[in-house]
Amino acid sequence: MNKFDKLIIKGKKQLFGEVNISGAKNSALPLMAASILFEKGYELNNVPDLLDTKIMIKLLNALGIKTLVSKGNIKFLREAIIHVAPEKLVNTMRASILILAPLLQSRKRAIVPLPGGCAIGSRPIDLHIDVVKKLGANVELENGHLTATLSENGFRGCQIKFPKVSVGATECAIMASVLAQGTTELINVAREPEIVDLGNCMIKAGAKILGLGKNRIIIEGVKKLNPISYSVIPDRIEAGSFAIAAAITKGEIDIKKTNYKDLNNFLKKLEITGTKVIYGQNELKIIGPSSLNSINISTEPHPGFPTDLQAQFMSLMCFAEGKSLIRENIFENRFQHVPELRKMGANILVKKNKAYVTGLKSLQGAKVKATDLRASMSLIIAALAADGESNILELEHLKRGYENIEDKLSNLGAQIN
Ligand code: UD1
Repeated sequence: MNKFDKLIIKGKKQLFGEVNISGAKNSALPLMAASILFEKGYELNNVPDLLDTKIMIKLLNALGIKTLVSKGNIKFLREAIIHVAPEKLVNTMRASILILAPLLQSRKRAIVPLPGGCAIGSRPIDLHIDVVKKLGANVELENGHLTATLSENGFRGCQIKFPKVSVGATECAIMASVLAQGTTELINVAREPEIVDLGNCMIKAGAKILGLGKNRIIIEGVKKLNPISYSVIPDRIEAGSFAIAAAITKGEIDIKKTNYKDLNNFLKKLEITGTKVIYGQNELKIIGPSSLNSINISTEPHPGFPTDLQAQFMSLMCFAEGKSLIRENIFENRFQHVPELRKMGANILVKKNKAYVTGLKSLQGAKVKATDLRASMSLIIAALAADGESNILELEHLKRGYENIEDKLSNLGAQIN
């Protein structure tokens, strides 16, 4: 068993000090996939060192992109692009589907197995398939593989109206449209900061994109992308997770290198719990209150409350005074942390997509299992505030999304092994 298979946390330790936020996983992955679109001279900075970014590097290497990696900097060198994505790598990460559009644009054909990833619902990829089809690709699904082809002229601009807001499908559409012939109009797109980051990177390379951060994006295809060096934005979900850790332990954490504007909705809710939030320039100070107020939350696409902070916020509500209602509106199976929190004594009742939480004075440390990325963080957060010792098992998901998390928590005073 390596040190990441299990964490032992001694609870009831207040967290104090400073933490630097890493680059955003959810920005880094599409930005890395976009390397396939560059003939030469593409470089990313502030890329977090995570299992998911390592898998993406391996996947790109297998597709013919050479990578030079050094402390958050990746230089991408495109060689002959291979159109078949290896099943073993794609299966381990849902975000692998992000290679579909760039691969098609570059090779005019792609064979991509259906992706894996966190077990938080069925997570289909129909919207991605619709995007490349509308832009001119022919796609067939056979034996768990997508086989897609495109005419020699590449993607053709068109209007796409998304029936549902999807982060990944919006990214797919942006990557497919920047080098397409003509103009593409995307309606009902996701507005997440990670979408804006991908768009800004493409604009820096010469792409013509209007409307980033709004629900309608217009892209006029260009002939090629110019060489650039681009820096990934800070991870808002990591920043939010540390803010909750400060609140739940009644501690005080300075969260550095963050863009708190991307967390507006979450921070407003956190303030209502009684947690003090002091806004600095690219930093936040979070001061946990002596007692927490309960508050209802409802996850929504950005700028609403992020689903990626729902599990961690639920842990916080387990310690609040009174009852709270947490509604999960994005994924249909994202309460897998609930049975584990109950093992620690939490009082949570689930009915469909609603969790009713009755706050308690304390939880007791227990042996719990991490089932997905954000669930694993919610259990760590609950364990930090619980009485006694917790054993958090099956932590492979944590490695996917939080850089140096053990060290960062230990530096803040957490007793963690
Ligand atoms: C991204 C994030 C993930 C976050 C999620 C929602 C990355 C790498 N991951 O995931 O951390 O939780 O956004 O903010 O950026 N859907 C379909 N068909 C599709 C695609 C999605 O029905 O083809 C559904 C999903 O099942 C889900 C909803 O649309 O119910 C939103 O999913 P989406 O925004 O696409 O999430 P991801 O891009 O997978």
